[in-house]
Amino acid sequence: MEKEKKKSVTVIDNQTGKKFEFFIKHGSSGPSVVDFSTFYSKTGMFTYDPGYTSTASCQSAITYIDGEKGKLLHRGYAIEDLANNSDYPEVCYLLLNGELPDENQKEKFRGILTNHTMLHEQILRFYSGFRRDSHPMAIMVGIVGALSSFYSEKNYDFSSIEGQWVAVSRLLAKMPTIAAIAYKYSLGQPFIYPKNELNYSENFLHMLFSTPCGEYHPSLARVEALDKLLILHADHEQNASTSTVKMAGSSGANPFACVAAGVASLWGPAHGGANESVIRMLYEIEKEENIKEYIDKAKDKKDPFRLMGFGHRVYKNHDPRANVLRKYCYSLLEEIDSVNYPLLKLATKLEEVALNDKYFISKKLYPNVDFYSGIILKALGLPESMFTVIFTVARTVGWISQWKEVNENQTTKISRPRQLYIGKDERAFTKLRDRNRTSKKKMFPGTVLGRLFQT
Ligand code: CMC
Repeated sequence: MEKEKKKSVTVIDNQTGKKFEFFIKHGSSGPSVVDFSTFYSKTGMFTYDPGYTSTASCQSAITYIDGEKGKLLHRGYAIEDLANNSDYPEVCYLLLNGELPDENQKEKFRGILTNHTMLHEQILRFYSGFRRDSHPMAIMVGIVGALSSFYSEKNYDFSSIEGQWVAVSRLLAKMPTIAAIAYKYSLGQPFIYPKNELNYSENFLHMLFSTPCGEYHPSLARVEALDKLLILHADHEQNASTSTVKMAGSSGANPFACVAAGVASLWGPAHGGANESVIRMLYEIEKEENIKEYIDKAKDKKDPFRLMGFGHRVYKNHDPRANVLRKYCYSLLEEIDSVNYPLLKLATKLEEVALNDKYFISKKLYPNVDFYSGIILKALGLPESMFTVIFTVARTVGWISQWKEVNENQTTKISRPRQLYIGKDERAFTKLRDRNRTSKKKMFPGTVLGRLFQT
């Protein structure tokens, strides 16, 4: 039988006329990739793709996104089905194991998550080292990193399945506790211990909002809204924070330290901080009468203002997560009649105006997940500084599932990108006594350091 010819692309060097063949690899869905792993050894050149806009950094069987069709699948299941029919721990199980759990497996997994929710009392002492007004994400980076000293290589072999489960279970179980304590610390309130009889989201709300003076009993709408928000943020393919965790992990570093690196990456406004900007924008718009002015600003090309929570880099028709979250956002808003209500009413009006505006329609600019998650978190009573912290709790499963996948693939190499060097060529060393005469160039021009170095 004739062997099917492997598909390939040929790169031609215009200067030498040399041809180089690279094979195409096909995934189960989505764009194929050209395997350029031998590009340097064949051509002596590197490929150049800052920001990885055309680069598949790995192969993965966890999450699939089709931005054009507005599709997000976890292990083959549509995000809409998962959000409408399951809960967050079930989605965690799916991401980690590849299949949805049966009843027995779900109960066992619930046991794992609830048995490890408490933090070592020594960890609690770390919190008091942070400034009272610290951003809770600064605390998250520190505390998650500190866990690596409690779960060290001395006691655990993280390359073994057992060791990996220690990392997975402890991180998933402890992250809501770490987050809730960061919040309590910012308020100056006593830390609230987890309650094992509550489900994952109920327990999280309990730790966030109960006090020794009164237990917080959230309504079903609140628990559901948080649970759906956690599901919708659980994983999103090779995003910046996930890639950071994997890159740190590729050197064999401690998984708790790797996840701390992921927390740092998520903190940035271009990644986890967008829902915070939605609420800040609503405060700026202030009242319904001002909506038109801000819509006009968003459309004005000379004005850098953009309507926060609208548009998406990957989803060009709609964000499937936003459609689901909208429903839970509205159920929650129906229930709420608090001081925050005018702001939330303003959000719904803004959504209505933008969705009917020709500019937003023609550019296919729809509300993204952050538009609704910001409103939900505000409605739950959390300050903006906690928004990215909640995202951190949700995304932990994505990070650790992808970290686990890398570890299961024994052939994975350390991540070590190369560069296009644009600095000085090799030059002769100038002795110190000769440098004063030769250095006419200003040091660090236009910066504070520059002023410091001015003579
Ligand atoms: N308000 C006004 N105009 C917009 C907006 C917006 N929010 N988003 C895009 N546009 C315009 C943009 O000016 C451009 O116009 P033109 O074709 O005339 O140049 C057109 O729509 C296409 O936009 P783009 O800049 O090519 O889109 P992008 O993929 O570079 O940007 C985005 C995507 C999310 C950065 C952008 O839509 C944006 O800045 N949105 C507001 C911030 C936001 O909500 N970010 C959260 C995204 S969800 C994150 C996640 O998945 O976790």
